[in-house]
Amino acid sequence: MSVIVTGSVAYDYLMSFPGRFKEHILPDRLDNISLSFLVDTMVRQRGGTGPNIAFTLALLGEKPKLVATVGPDFTEYRAWLESHGVDTSLTVVIPEAFTASFFANTDQDNNQISSFYAGAMAYATQASLRSLTAKPDLVIISPNDPKAMDQYVTECKALGIRYLYDPSQQVVRVSGEELRHGVEGAHSLFVNKYEFELLQKHTGMSAEQIIGSTGFTVVTLGGEGAVIYAEGKEYRVPVFRPKEILDPTGVGDAFRGGFVRAYLLGLDWELCGKVGALAAAYCLETRGPQEHAYTPTEFVTRFRQQFDDGGKLNILAA
Ligand SMILES: Nc1ncnc2c1ncn2[C@@H]1O[C@H](COP(=O)(O)OP(=O)(O)OP(=O)(O)O)[C@@H](O)[C@H]1O
Ligand SMILES: [Mg+2]
Repeated sequence: MSVIVTGSVAYDYLMSFPGRFKEHILPDRLDNISLSFLVDTMVRQRGGTGPNIAFTLALLGEKPKLVATVGPDFTEYRAWLESHGVDTSLTVVIPEAFTASFFANTDQDNNQISSFYAGAMAYATQASLRSLTAKPDLVIISPNDPKAMDQYVTECKALGIRYLYDPSQQVVRVSGEELRHGVEGAHSLFVNKYEFELLQKHTGMSAEQIIGSTGFTVVTLGGEGAVIYAEGKEYRVPVFRPKEILDPTGVGDAFRGGFVRAYLLGLDWELCGKVGALAAAYCLETRGPQEHAYTPTEFVTRFRQQFDDGGKLNILAA
């Protein structure tokens, strides 16, 4: 089985300001703002939906290939992904742009001022699936430059490749027509509950029509778990109780990575969902989307502390 993951690649620069923004913003001077906040801490985290999903797939023993555009500042990130088993040979370096970057400054009241620089991600249409030499078993289309997402849908349809459509937060940026294009004929669809409602609104399709247009649909419900609509049935998936919740960033991506790994191994729907749930729990327990670690064997051992797989997960640890 070979899987290609497309999606944004980004660095997240997270800063914390030891004061309150509101004490420095003068309401009567709003037409002339020039503020600089001296921050206490800054971390740079590896993120972006493409590498986040690929990272979990690789932790669980898959050899995913990442298709994305990156800047010359990707070198260190590339080495990190490669050392974890993600194949980055299909990434395209855009010499004149930085890797997409998210800058967020958070104050003591948890207020946030942030900026997202698309950088190399804005060139994502340059990373085409048409240049693939071998046909993958599955392509994951996760949030990215909206034009590129639509292009990947078109390419998968033209090349007869199964694709998992994961519009996630880009539901608000992609047109209704493009969303319908993505949903119709998708091998699978992954969204959270809120995005599922927006998807219905923007496409004008009912929940039943959306579910009926895809091979299967997974709607995640945060702390309430997830529901899988497949083969005319509905499967409820519980959460795996995390030891603690340090940071939810990347939890949806980790869930997808876990689910897809189990799916590609041929496991049943409920097991796919539960593998996704544990992969998500690991992500919740650390700060940053790719700071957690486990071997497949450790994963299976922990899985059995809460769930019963009837020995079927031996295939994962093999
Ligand atoms: N509080 C939680 N406790 C345990 N598991 C959780 C919790 N929140 C999320 N999860 C797990 O992660 C999965 C995906 O969560 P969620 O629906 O929040 O995704 P999301 O909204 O796409 O997240 P994001 O986009 O912020 O990464 C859930 O189905 C569940 O298995
Ligand atoms: Mg999400």
